[in-house]
Amino acid sequence: MDGKSRIDTLNNIQIFAGNANPTLARKVCKYLSIPLGNVLVGRFPDGEIDVKVNEDVRGSDIFIIQPTCPPVNENLAELLILIDCFKRASSARITAVLPYYGYARKDRKDEGRVPITAKLVANLVTEAGADRLLTIDLHAAQIQGFFDIPVDHLLAFRVLADYYREKKLEDFVVVSPDVGGIKIARLYSKNMHIRLAVVDKRRVGPEEIEVGFVIGDVKDRNAIIIDDIIATGGSICQAARILKEKGAKDIYVGATHPVLCGSAAEKLMDAPIKEIAVTDTIPLNEHARSLGTKIKVLSIASLLGEAIKRIHTNKSISSMFSES
Ligand code: R5P
Repeated sequence: MDGKSRIDTLNNIQIFAGNANPTLARKVCKYLSIPLGNVLVGRFPDGEIDVKVNEDVRGSDIFIIQPTCPPVNENLAELLILIDCFKRASSARITAVLPYYGYARKDRKDEGRVPITAKLVANLVTEAGADRLLTIDLHAAQIQGFFDIPVDHLLAFRVLADYYREKKLEDFVVVSPDVGGIKIARLYSKNMHIRLAVVDKRRVGPEEIEVGFVIGDVKDRNAIIIDDIIATGGSICQAARILKEKGAKDIYVGATHPVLCGSAAEKLMDAPIKEIAVTDTIPLNEHARSLGTKIKVLSIASLLGEAIKRIHTNKSISSMFSES
């Protein structure tokens, strides 16, 4: 979109969703008091993706809400085809909204003859025709640099921190399950005025974790483990076990993206964890729902809705986090 004048009201904004998380898209639309756009995202008999937008989008500011969660490749392909469709329908600007950015963990060549899939996805999204990206809690913030289009990177931190604040837990410590998560755990520690501890985790395979020791005092304290993703559940369960061994009391887990693949739900059920709070960046799968009251879903719809509103009206996004 060329000038500010075209996008200073909510008049020419339209929000669409693929099949990845239409429930979240509807909640975002509710926050913005606009209807969810009418689009068919179906399948041809051979499995190819069939897309048809059923309303006029010419000159509109388009937001496509589509996390690339499992089934990752289906959801990614839907997103790319939707972007292509809106570009060809002469929309003014397209923002790809990926509340969860799949393939983010493949962000570097850490051994020979492996791809950097996070960069490939950035290329695909850009080449398909997206003008901007809006995302939440990237596995590594530097993935923003894989894009040559503007990226707005939101943090689910406030949603989770407010939740724990309301619980009024006493004597508790925030724990990063690995060294890579220290920065975000420190944000909680600083903002909630609580101590920080770190678990020394090493990944020895896609599903195998080795845990060494805990840096920081967790004995006789409640612990909140903060992570961006729970995938196989290996990192969180191992961290919970070592915290228990070191004398922690109740263990809570706060994570943004509940991928929960394979036997993650069973592992989490058996682990010494009192409660897992996650967000609705991606929907809970059937296995995860079997966790019942052990899992609590917090909505990031208003966070996302507010960011969309600000992008559309050219307002600052960073000021949403300025007190963090
Ligand atoms: C790792 O660096 C991430 O922050 C998560 O801890 C990890 O991706 C979780 O994966 P899993 O649940 O399979 O251990």
